[in-house]
Amino acid sequence: MNPEQLKSIAQGVFKGDKALLAMDESNPTCNKRFAALGIPQTVEARRAYRELIVTTPKLGHYIGGAILYDETIRQQKTDGTPFIKALVDAGIVPGIKVDAGATDLAGHAGEKVTEGLDGLRDRLGEYAAMGARFAKWRAVIAIGDVIPSGGCIDANAHALARYAALCQEAGLVPIVEPEVLMDGDHTIDRCAEVTEEVLNAVFLQLRTQRVMLEGMILKPNMVLSGLECPTQADLDEVADATVNCFLRAVPAAVPAIAFLSGGQSAELASARLNAMNARFKSRVPWALAFSYSRAIQQPALEAWHGEDANVRIAQEALLHRARCNQAARRGEYSAALEAQ
Ligand code: 13P
Repeated sequence: MNPEQLKSIAQGVFKGDKALLAMDESNPTCNKRFAALGIPQTVEARRAYRELIVTTPKLGHYIGGAILYDETIRQQKTDGTPFIKALVDAGIVPGIKVDAGATDLAGHAGEKVTEGLDGLRDRLGEYAAMGARFAKWRAVIAIGDVIPSGGCIDANAHALARYAALCQEAGLVPIVEPEVLMDGDHTIDRCAEVTEEVLNAVFLQLRTQRVMLEGMILKPNMVLSGLECPTQADLDEVADATVNCFLRAVPAAVPAIAFLSGGQSAELASARLNAMNARFKSRVPWALAFSYSRAIQQPALEAWHGEDANVRIAQEALLHRARCNQAARRGEYSAALEAQ
């Protein structure tokens, strides 16, 4: 590993208030989103959709890096150009999701652990040779009356740290994604408590596994009220709770916090990120950025609907969300911008 190179990748993708586009949905997840819109769930439809994304004109003005999936990183545009080359030519750094998904954690009803460490060293070497510069691993933590358990938090934190150390060994920047899910009727305070506990466990394990914090990216949930909670925190409350939680738990050496959207609407994901940057950007040690999938892609996917004729309008929808979220990085997102 070359520490300077890792640092430069981890900082570089966020320069100019750009951030990350997650287009790394596994085939089952991508198929589920296609099925909901009546789009055929085929390799060719997935390829065509990803071609639409990587060929969006000016995407590189707003997006510094894109996370791909194993199927996608091996695919090409209709003219034969590999997606990875199309991204690099657009000024977008390619990355790759490397976890093998979350599976039931034995002995822990309702809890999951993410798998994929077996053979990971070889897979990372292959992806690095293909041109990937960073990787992603997602752990999921559910909130309930008696969960998360210490066993679930520790198992996931340990796996994230083993993955992150292997990435850095291979010269790839690890995106460490511990996602506390929004599902449930819990309050924002409960989400804050669980998120802080999870982050503490993750950073303890990252240090234990000798991960260089300057050469990683954290991809967490925002601190939010549960989706079914009768009292929904407003923008300022979300910004306060989220930033305060991260100030307590995330070392200043980490260059960037790139939030997942987790099922928030596209507009709320932009507005909440904007509230954080408008109020705290000059006072926090890390970039407050985004690595959204649904909150950046969903309007484009709906506009495309599987039809070639809709490619242009879908690309405009994607670009609009990218522009709105770059503005949110600057604390300059507004209703007027959203309406443009
Ligand atoms: P969402 O923004 O849709 O939550 O996806 C982010 C992601 O990459 C999940 O792993």
